[in-house]
Amino acid sequence: PRVAVLFGGRSSEHSVSCVTAAGVLAAIDQEKYDVVPIGIAPNGQWTLVSEDPARWSLTAETRPEVAPAAESLLLTAGNSGTELVVRSASEAIRSLGQVDVVLPLLHGPFGEDGTLQGLLEMADVRYVGAGVLASAVGMDKHYMKVVFEAAGLEVGPYEVITDRQWQQDPDSALARVAGLGFPVFVKPARAGSSMGISKVSDAAELRSAIEAAREHDPKIVVEAGIVGREIEVAVLQGRGCDDPRTSLPGEIAVQPGVHDFYDFEAKYVDGAAAALSCPADLPSEATDRVRELAGKAFDAVAGEGLSRVDFFYTPDGHLIINEINTMPGFTPISMYPQMWAKSGLPYTELIDELIYLALN
Ligand code: DAL
Ligand code: MG
Repeated sequence: PRVAVLFGGRSSEHSVSCVTAAGVLAAIDQEKYDVVPIGIAPNGQWTLVSEDPARWSLTAETRPEVAPAAESLLLTAGNSGTELVVRSASEAIRSLGQVDVVLPLLHGPFGEDGTLQGLLEMADVRYVGAGVLASAVGMDKHYMKVVFEAAGLEVGPYEVITDRQWQQDPDSALARVAGLGFPVFVKPARAGSSMGISKVSDAAELRSAIEAAREHDPKIVVEAGIVGREIEVAVLQGRGCDDPRTSLPGEIAVQPGVHDFYDFEAKYVDGAAAALSCPADLPSEATDRVRELAGKAFDAVAGEGLSRVDFFYTPDGHLIINEINTMPGFTPISMYPQMWAKSGLPYTELIDELIYLALN
């Protein structure tokens, strides 16, 4: 089968997506698949990538980026009008020849949020992972909580500040947020990799934290800080009508000191900042429960393909869901593939299985 691997993209997680793609392109079975690597530059231009992404790495100084290349331009998915974008995308996909499946290794808005998935639906092309609704809900930290609560999952206390609320009456928004107590985490509703997130311990810092998050998204979610261990589970759609499969849980322990929380630097740049372990050292009852809840979260958003579900395990034994990521970080050292490797499904086979699920 011919597989178009899509990466980069217009979101602030562009570089993370490039690193994810580098890992997948290095591991995907090239004998079995005819792989077409397509980068989306930060300005939205689609381009066939000929350079070797294996050289890309994310460090304190370097952020890999897809360069727009005029002559191999396939599509500009910018502000040039919806009609043009949709028509060009279909043409772009068709002009690649018969693409059997797209592997959209994109994180964040315009990749993981249902927009790209809608484009692929319009173009009648199969793709790996979540569909339009699950992608959109999984991208939005506000609506995912609404859906999780409705499904009976335990969600921590939070407040939402819409753009209109902030513009009309910031003081009442601040008063609502202060009701959560401190510390709180101020987050753009639709972003990823901790972009735009601040931990705020003092009411005096709230306003600037909200403004900083608003650089990423005009809608803000403020979450009460939860004392608990960070536990994650990798979910993989079942074959046929089978239930979703869940991995052994993993744990992220941020080393005290340098990083206040699992921020961008701790995630991607400072390798010593966080210890990832799998399986997490949990009582077997909690292991079973967190896996069950992860499957429930996947079904709550109507997940397909894959998702990573993140929880807090509190000292009194509650498992509070933090979020779902419908295209989790996917480098060979990312939590999602590591948890599957520890659960008996190595990286290359995992990619294979995801393509199988998309094609069947
Ligand atoms: N948003 C990043 C890539 C993650 O969830 O792993
Ligand atoms: Mg996320």
